[in-house]
Amino acid sequence: MKTANQDIKPITTKINQNGNIEIGGCDLVELANKYGTPLYVFDEATIRSITRSYKDAFKSCKNINMMFAAKAFMTKAVCKIMEQEEFGLDLCSGGEIYTAKSSGFDMSKTLFNGNNKSYDELNYALECGVGTVSVDNFFELALLNDIAKSQNKTVRILLRITPGIECHTHKYIQTGHLDSKFGFDLTRLDEAVELIRDEYSNLNLSGLHAHIGSQIFEKNVYFDEVGVIFKEIKRIKDKYGITLHEVNIGGGLGIKYTEKDTPVSIYEIAETIINSVKIHSDKYEIEEPSIFIEPGRSVVGTAGVTLYTAGSSKQVPKGRKYQAVDGGMSDNARPSLYEAEYTVEIANNPKGEACEKVTIAGKHCESGDILAKDIMLPEIEEGDTICFYTTGAYGYSMSSNYNRVLKSAAVLVNNGNSDIIINRQSYEQLCENDIIPDRLN
Ligand code: LLP
Repeated sequence: MKTANQDIKPITTKINQNGNIEIGGCDLVELANKYGTPLYVFDEATIRSITRSYKDAFKSCKNINMMFAAKAFMTKAVCKIMEQEEFGLDLCSGGEIYTAKSSGFDMSKTLFNGNNKSYDELNYALECGVGTVSVDNFFELALLNDIAKSQNKTVRILLRITPGIECHTHKYIQTGHLDSKFGFDLTRLDEAVELIRDEYSNLNLSGLHAHIGSQIFEKNVYFDEVGVIFKEIKRIKDKYGITLHEVNIGGGLGIKYTEKDTPVSIYEIAETIINSVKIHSDKYEIEEPSIFIEPGRSVVGTAGVTLYTAGSSKQVPKGRKYQAVDGGMSDNARPSLYEAEYTVEIANNPKGEACEKVTIAGKHCESGDILAKDIMLPEIEEGDTICFYTTGAYGYSMSSNYNRVLKSAAVLVNNGNSDIIINRQSYEQLCENDIIPDRLN
């Protein structure tokens, strides 16, 4: 069965009677006028369709837990949706923990991840009652045990391992290959298990965690990943008599940015994972552990679009035509960072003939600030509303104030309603942490 991550556009996208693009029953041109641009627009129906596909696809799995990887896009409103959809949260910084906690999220359903969690972050995580910590390295094992002891607590932990699986994605977003900054090398896993058993009495080892990469189109890497993890579980059981009950296989499922992308459906991924869990637990004669998955991009990526207003343009003699918009690498760093490509339409002219090759440039003082290179679009006029699809994941969350450009607003749309979920930053907020030392006055 097809799932929403396999389409470029949010599931509610249509052309309305004004001839404009509409998402969640809201006219994108009207949204741009009402809230200003650049504007992130998130379609609630698409997010919920994806979370429900995940739940449905895995329903035959005895003990499955969905965790949304909040790094993809996190606001308090998103935490609420995840809570309603019975997803937990995979968090990776003190700021993400704070956001979840202040949205009222049940912190026992959160996992804290990361390769260099600080003392303050770990301390805060335990104070907030984060459910599980995925420990990445030896330094963190010792630190976390000390903190847990000082708070008189026993912490449930997973060990993050490097499974040695390469997947074909951009090298910056591969994580599970052997030469990676994340996780315990398998050759040193026993040392960690022994330390927990013999010295770290405030840590309760409940399972293993891995994440092989992001924007993955192949199913088989998940099959192999589960195999690697189960083999380790069997080995640890035989060698130490320790039974590990939890396996977290990370996130990574891809989405469709352009027609070139061919992501698989959530049902296909689920089938592969469920099969692999069955085959490998039979093979190694271990009881099926609880399975955790933590998708980020596939949950919110397709639901989000970014709206810009077209400004100046320039035709280089015998060269490219550049069309500038009122945002750029500060609201979407992915094109300049990963050469990411997007599908673009003109929200007030979606049916126009794509007769012109154009390069959409951002407004930042940098030649590399190009949002889309050499794409075919109808002729753009100043003031047009330009819509970039599939910007929901790692767009706003990686945004910056480069050039002191203000952070965009984000709205959630559903059934003709639009609600602000992130206010546009103001100039006052931009400068609120700036201090002029007395001696400069
Ligand atoms: N779990 C762990 C431990 C992770 O490190 C990540 C993503 C996820 C889950 C979620 O993976 P997803 O389902 O979103 O693929 N900024 C990059 C993506 C970096 C992904 C980092 N880790 C981009 O814009 O493509």
